[in-house]
Amino acid sequence: MGKKRVYLETFGCQMNELDSELVAGSLTSLGYSFTRDSDDADIVLYNTCSVRERAEQKVWSRLGAMKTAKKDRPDLVVGVLGCMAERDGTDLMHRMPVVDVMCGPAELDKLPELIDNAVRTKAALAADDPSMAIRKSAKAVALQGSASRRSSTLAAAGDSLESLDLGRMVSPVDVDSKRSAYVRITRGCNKFCTYCVVPHTRGAEIHRPPAHIIDEIKMLADSGVVEITLLGQTVNHYRFEHGSAVTVDGVVQPQKGRTYKGSHHRDSFAGDETTTFADLLYRIHEEVPAIRRLRFVTSYPRDFGNDVLEVIRDCPRICRYIHVPAQTGSNRMLKMMNRGYTIEEYDEFIDRCRSYLDQPELGRPLMLSGDVIVGFPTETDEDHEATKRMLERSRYKNCFIFKYSPRPGTVAYDKIPDDIPDEIKRARNNELLALQARISDEIAREQVGREFDVFVEGLSRKEHKKRGTDVKPGSGMVGITINGAASKAPVAVMDEAVGGDELVQFSGRTDGDLIVFFDAPAQRTDLVGTVVRARVMDADRLNLRGELI
Ligand code: SAH
Ligand code: SF4
Ligand code: F3S
Repeated sequence: MGKKRVYLETFGCQMNELDSELVAGSLTSLGYSFTRDSDDADIVLYNTCSVRERAEQKVWSRLGAMKTAKKDRPDLVVGVLGCMAERDGTDLMHRMPVVDVMCGPAELDKLPELIDNAVRTKAALAADDPSMAIRKSAKAVALQGSASRRSSTLAAAGDSLESLDLGRMVSPVDVDSKRSAYVRITRGCNKFCTYCVVPHTRGAEIHRPPAHIIDEIKMLADSGVVEITLLGQTVNHYRFEHGSAVTVDGVVQPQKGRTYKGSHHRDSFAGDETTTFADLLYRIHEEVPAIRRLRFVTSYPRDFGNDVLEVIRDCPRICRYIHVPAQTGSNRMLKMMNRGYTIEEYDEFIDRCRSYLDQPELGRPLMLSGDVIVGFPTETDEDHEATKRMLERSRYKNCFIFKYSPRPGTVAYDKIPDDIPDEIKRARNNELLALQARISDEIAREQVGREFDVFVEGLSRKEHKKRGTDVKPGSGMVGITINGAASKAPVAVMDEAVGGDELVQFSGRTDGDLIVFFDAPAQRTDLVGTVVRARVMDADRLNLRGELI
C-alpha cells in the first residue's frame, strides 16, 4: 500500500484556512501526500462553513459528485470537517451516506486517527469480502456535540486541541511560497449574535496562552514569514489569566516571562497575572521584530480600549487596518441582533480609532473595513436608510455585504420569522454595494500622491494571466484549495515564469491593506516578501498604481 493521497478543499473564513493548513501539516508529517485533483485522491476532505446556507449548498453539491465517484472507487474515503460537520452532526451522514469521516472544528486534533480508522476498516472489509466495502463503510466521527460547549478555561480537551497549533509544521514548500501566515489567538465565540452559527459550531471562547502564540510566531519568522495575521472572532476580547503564582508567604508573584513594562498601555489591565490584547500585540511586536507586518481580525465594536489603540499607534510594525463589522446602522436591528452596542457607540469607536491612528501625512492613513447584513427580519426602509448613513460615516475601504440567511439552531431562526422577501434583500444588497463602491473609489483617489510602504506579494494577477502562469487552485499550498480558487501567487511559480530586465507588474499591500500595483524588472523576484517604498500615481476603485521610490 503506497502513500495515501489526500485532496483537501476549504470553504469559509480565515479560521478554516488556518485549520486546513494545520491539518495538512499534520497529515503530511504522518506520511500522507497531497494532490490538487480529487479524481487522483484516496481521501477527499472538505473543510466546511455553515455561516450562510449558500456555503453549505456548495458542499452538498461536492458530496453529490463524490457519490458518483465512489461507485467506481469504493475505497475512496470522504470526510466532512469543520463547521458544517459540527452543525449538522450525524444527520449529515444519514442524509449523505457517502460521508465516511466527520470531524468538528474543535476536534481536528483527532482527524488523523479518524482517517486511519476509516482507511483500515475499509481495507479489512475489502479483504474479507470485496463486495462488503461497497455496501458497508467504516464511519468515524468526532464532534463536540451541541450540548457540551468546552469550558472557557483550558480544559484537558482544549489542551489536546492546542496540540494542533503547537504541532504546526512549516514545510519547505510553504517557506518557499509563503511570507504571510495566520496565527490563532482565540478559539470560539461567546457573543451569540442572534443570526450566527459560529458560537454553536466553534464552541466557547478560549484564549491561547501568550507563550504558545509567541513561540509559534518565532518559529514562523525563523522560516521566513514576515507578515502575521492574528485570528479570533472577537480578537479584542483576548485575555489570558495566568495561574497566580503564590509564594509560601502568600504574596502573588508576577509570572515568569512577562517582560512588558509599558504601563501607559494598561488602562484595561487587571494586573500582572493577565495578558490583555494590548499586551499581546506589544509583546509580539517587541519580541519578534522580524515580523514586519502584524495584523489582526476580527475586531468587535465593543470593549476595544484605548490601550489597544495606543499600542497600535506606538508600534510601527502593527498595521493601521481594523476590520470592525457594524452589521447594520439601525439601533432597532442591533438590538434584535443582540450585538450589545448602539450605533452611537459604534460611531464613537470609529472616531476614536481615527483620532489615534489616522496619519495620512506619514503615509499611514487608517483603513477600516466592515460587514453588513441586509434583510434581517422586520428590517424596514427606515432601518435600511440608517445603514446607508452608517456606511457614509464609517467610510470603509471595503465592506462585505450579506443577505440574511436563517441558520437552524440560532435564536433568530427559532424566534424571528425570515419575513423579508428575497427581492427586497437583493435590492438592498445592490444598493449598499453601489454605495460602498463609490466610497471605496473615493478612498482610493485620496491616496494619489501619497507615499507608502508596500509589502510585495508577487506578480500581479494580470501579469500572470498575460504569461499564462495564472496559478491553479491550491498551488504552493500542499494541494489545499480555498473556495475553489488560489489566493496568492507563490514565488516558486513566479521564478519559473519570469526573468531578465523586462518590466513586469508586481502587486503588494500597504499597511492599511490597500492593494498597490507597480512595475519592476522581471529579475527582481527578490522584492517578493520585502517592504518597498512607493508613490501612488493613479487610482481606480481599490486598485492603486504606484512607482517605486
Ligand atoms: N466574528 C465576526 C464575524 C464572523 S461571521 C464578527 O462578529 O464580526 C462573518 C460575517 O458573516 C459576519 O460579520 C456577518 O456579517 C455574516 N453573517 C453571519 N451570520 C450570518 C447570517 N446568518 N446571514 C448572513 N450573514 C451572516
Ligand atoms: Fe457570530 Fe457575533 Fe460571534 Fe461574530 S461575534 S462570530 S457575528 S456570534
Ligand atoms: Fe464559516 Fe465556521 Fe468560519 S461557520 S465563517 S467556517 S467559523
